[in-house]
Amino acid sequence: MKPSPPPLLLILLLIFISLFPIIITSVSLQLPPTSSPSSPSTSTLDPNQLKALQSLNIPTSKDPCIQPSFHNATQCDSSKPFRHLLSLTLSNCSTSISLSYNALKSLSTLQSLHFLNCPIAPIHFPPQLTYSLLSFTSINSLHKISGVWLSHLANLTDLTVSNTPIKASGPYVILAHMKKLKTLTISNTNLTAQWDNSKVHFTNEESQVLESS
Ligand SMILES: *[C@@H]1O[C@H](CO)[C@@H](O)[C@H](O)[C@H]1NC(C)=O
Ligand SMILES: *[C@@H]1O[C@H](CO)[C@@H](O)[C@H](O)[C@H]1NC(C)=O
Ligand SMILES: *[C@@H]1O[C@H](CO)[C@@H](O)[C@H](O)[C@H]1NC(C)=O
Ligand SMILES: *[C@@H]1O[C@H](CO)[C@@H](O)[C@H](O)[C@H]1NC(C)=O
Repeated sequence: MKPSPPPLLLILLLIFISLFPIIITSVSLQLPPTSSPSSPSTSTLDPNQLKALQSLNIPTSKDPCIQPSFHNATQCDSSKPFRHLLSLTLSNCSTSISLSYNALKSLSTLQSLHFLNCPIAPIHFPPQLTYSLLSFTSINSLHKISGVWLSHLANLTDLTVSNTPIKASGPYVILAHMKKLKTLTISNTNLTAQWDNSKVHFTNEESQVLESS
């Protein structure tokens, strides 16, 4: 008595089982070449800028360059091999974070820097950052800033300071060197002075909101 069907099935099963590891290995062999050229790491952002963001409590588990970013806090250029930050918004900051000169130095590709409800102490900005900044905002942030400190940001086209005390003898201190300024909004800063620059006029005297013409 020779039962013919079961052995055939067994043989097929054996063939299948013996093929299976080959399929597995061939798949695992094919994976590295397909994945490595496109995205070698989890982020496309310059590693130094990634570190700087981490020091500022910006989550970096997801690539900060992918839009929309976490709370729209970061925007990048498209340079290679690493992308660089163009825009950074620090909102609702924890009081435990602080700005460091080295972190700001590695963030010197920023064109826009915004502080919203970010009560951290302002520090001297590295020259590279003051050159690159075109837009600066401090709303209810930075404790208190000086007019001289602001005046260093001479390449600004947009400046907004609101609910942030400014220490200056007058607006001239801030604006004298900002030749490219297009939009200026100053409100609730305790800065009291006559705004006699012809490019600037009051739109709302009570809250001291100003815009250039
Ligand atoms: C995201 O941020 C950029 C730059 O700060 C700004 O221009 C844009 O309007 C923001 N988008 C949203 C949806 O908030
Ligand atoms: C900051 O806090 C305000 C008020 O609690 C909230 O409305 C806003 O969404 C927060 N923004 C961010 C970016 O966390
Ligand atoms: C303004 O930007 C230009 C480059 O566009 C740079 O050469 C110059 O040094 C910057 N000036 C200041 C005061 O940051
Ligand atoms: C700003 O002015 C208000 C009202 O005049 C005052 O209570 C506050 O202490 C001033 N703040 C600073 C930082 O000078």
